[in-house]
Amino acid sequence: MTDVQKPWSGRFTQPTDRFVEEFTASVGFDRRLALYDIQGSIAHAKMLGKIGVLTESECQAIISGLEQIASEIERGAFAWSVALEDVHMNIEARLTELIGEAGKKLHTARSRNDQVATDLRLWLRDEIDRISAELRRLLAAILDLAEGEVDTILPGLTHLQVAQPVTFGHHLLAWCEMLERDLERLADCRRRVNVMPLGAAALAGTSFPIDRFYTAELLGFDRPARNSLDAVSDRDFAIEFAACAALIMVHLSRMAEELILWASPQFDFVELPDAFCTGSSIMPQKKNPDVTELVRGKSGRVFGHLMALLTLMKAQPLAYNKDNQEDKEPLFDAVDTVLNCLRAFADLIPHLRPKRESMRHAAKLGFATATDLADYLVRKGIPFRQAHEITGRAVRLALERGVDLSELPLVELKSLCGQIEQDVYPMLTLEGSVASRAHYGGTAPDQVRQAIQEARRRLAAGH
Ligand code: ARG
Repeated sequence: MTDVQKPWSGRFTQPTDRFVEEFTASVGFDRRLALYDIQGSIAHAKMLGKIGVLTESECQAIISGLEQIASEIERGAFAWSVALEDVHMNIEARLTELIGEAGKKLHTARSRNDQVATDLRLWLRDEIDRISAELRRLLAAILDLAEGEVDTILPGLTHLQVAQPVTFGHHLLAWCEMLERDLERLADCRRRVNVMPLGAAALAGTSFPIDRFYTAELLGFDRPARNSLDAVSDRDFAIEFAACAALIMVHLSRMAEELILWASPQFDFVELPDAFCTGSSIMPQKKNPDVTELVRGKSGRVFGHLMALLTLMKAQPLAYNKDNQEDKEPLFDAVDTVLNCLRAFADLIPHLRPKRESMRHAAKLGFATATDLADYLVRKGIPFRQAHEITGRAVRLALERGVDLSELPLVELKSLCGQIEQDVYPMLTLEGSVASRAHYGGTAPDQVRQAIQEARRRLAAGH
């Protein structure tokens, strides 16, 4: 392994220690950046050609050599070497092997420090786009489901106790709101990812008359980074992405938790598709919501990656430090985890079967329309605090009788408050309760129908 000549061999009198070679190498994981490294190198070579640092034929040789390497990597025919430490030196060494002298010129006006920061940003930009596409697919699936559940009523909960009836469509739209904010956050993060470090070289820039605006344009970056020291050293873009990923996982874990509860026989609000569940090796009756549980559980590792990246960056002096090599594995795993979890949900939701009768039955328990009775009394001129008190007594009465509020006879209700009339009963039904919440953002079916249309329009417009 150590027979490979290191780029720094001129300065050193000892070969690298075997263990140190393994310890410092990143090729085991950063090879994932290979195609972005090549993309960046091709743009760099073209820029060097444009400013006359490389001849036309050197430039051509470098580009076709790099293209051949890309194809070797894609075919799995590339021989990675730990002695060559990282993805950058592996590719450069192979390039020189393929095209000779010209290959040794590619690294002019560049350092691995600006190179790796560029690779990581190019890669993350693509991953953000993939994650955003998956978020959109999930959003579309939830909106489709919501469309059919605009009139479905289930108990809305606070403290996991029955609070007020809501429509299932409305509940699903709450999920959509969370995910839409996640999409916005990613779009915002992407703007700061899409800035090009290349040209910062090791830390201070380079003595060659490079054209960074040209390279940035070739690579689709919005602009070159403004400060060379900052460009090679900061990984806040990665931290920011990890924070976005962590919030996506927070949201998915909340959805997962609800699905797990709803699929339990105690709730029985939904049937999860068999294809997304597993059985028990001992208890024949079991159908376990493994996929949703895993999504809930995997949130932990993404939070961990965010913490790892924050800690990695904390107190690092300018400019580049090798600490930053440790940014890749957490970032890679955060991307993979978020993508897989979004995919699992986007695939599962279209097969979710809501159990409308069960939801309705549950909404009838727990006096979900008590607030509607209090509101009714307020409309009859009774101050809310007093109305609350009267309604509380009505609930106690209904509890004693073992009936719902809507089943208390009018005489009984009148004994609590003389102003209660026959017209109270429509208010105490589930339909009456949800229909009355007809303002913007409310749970009334008409509002929900409109909210779904608006969400669809936003999704189609790409924001
Ligand atoms: N493998 C390194 C990393 O991931 C590449 C940059 C190395 N630069 C250096 N000066 N050792 O950060």
